[in-house]
Amino acid sequence: MQSVVSSVLREGRAVQRIHVAIIMDGNGRWATRRGMPRQAGHAAGVEALGHILEAAPDVGIGTLTVYAFSTDNWQRPTAEVNALMGLLRRYVEKETRRLVEGGARLTVIGRRDRLPADVAAAIGRAERATARGTKLHLRVAVDYSARDAILAAAETTARSGEFTREAFLRTLTSDAAGEPANHRYVDLLVRTGGEKRLSDFLLWECAYAELYFTDRLWPDFSAEDLATAVAAFHARERRFGGLGPSVSAA
Ligand code: IPE
Ligand code: IPE
Ligand code: MG
Repeated sequence: MQSVVSSVLREGRAVQRIHVAIIMDGNGRWATRRGMPRQAGHAAGVEALGHILEAAPDVGIGTLTVYAFSTDNWQRPTAEVNALMGLLRRYVEKETRRLVEGGARLTVIGRRDRLPADVAAAIGRAERATARGTKLHLRVAVDYSARDAILAAAETTARSGEFTREAFLRTLTSDAAGEPANHRYVDLLVRTGGEKRLSDFLLWECAYAELYFTDRLWPDFSAEDLATAVAAFHARERRFGGLGPSVSAA
């Protein structure tokens, strides 16, 4: 891993910290292949997230937005939903101290009003406790739907009585506390588990994101895999509709 990380850093392109979003997919298949219940895959997925968080600042990531539970995931069997909510609560309770020590800030995006009260309360406590972290901003998407987030921002802006493009954009890109997000747009979107779709994740923010798909199932995704994905990102030429440095210099 070190070689990939240092090659990214050597070329000086990791100086500006990037926003990486991850669709952490493949937990269920990981468990099923081992003859274990799907919930065991989700528990293994939480472990994988720990390794990724530790490695993220070293590979130049400033903001990491991870998809933990989509609005459409409520359709899953109650036992699986309950297991996921339990894992989430334990995660934020257990990890808060480590996040504070590591200088990380945790915020949760998505709807709060349908979460079990104990989960919502634990999230609020963790957000307050980590509010001063600057080394890494971890954003966890829970009961999240990008389409719903866009519609909700339109609704909120309309209710405010000032429906301008600027007011809408401000609402759409603010966090739950109404604070503007540091990294509005995603630089690199990673999806594990082999599927090549967005599943309603960050549709607006990924307008110019580089997309990186890997067959690796989420519980197997390592710090080295993260470094490989970031190195692939730095090897790409982002043009944002222009001609790019190689052509415009001519
Ligand atoms: C991703 O893994 C985690 C959640 C959606 C909560 P899955 O549970 O979707 O795993 P697969 O895709 O069924 O393997
Ligand atoms: C996306 O994965 C949601 C999360 C990883 C939390 P899904 O497994 O729910 O997505 P689909 O059903 O394959 O599109
Ligand atoms: Mg899946």
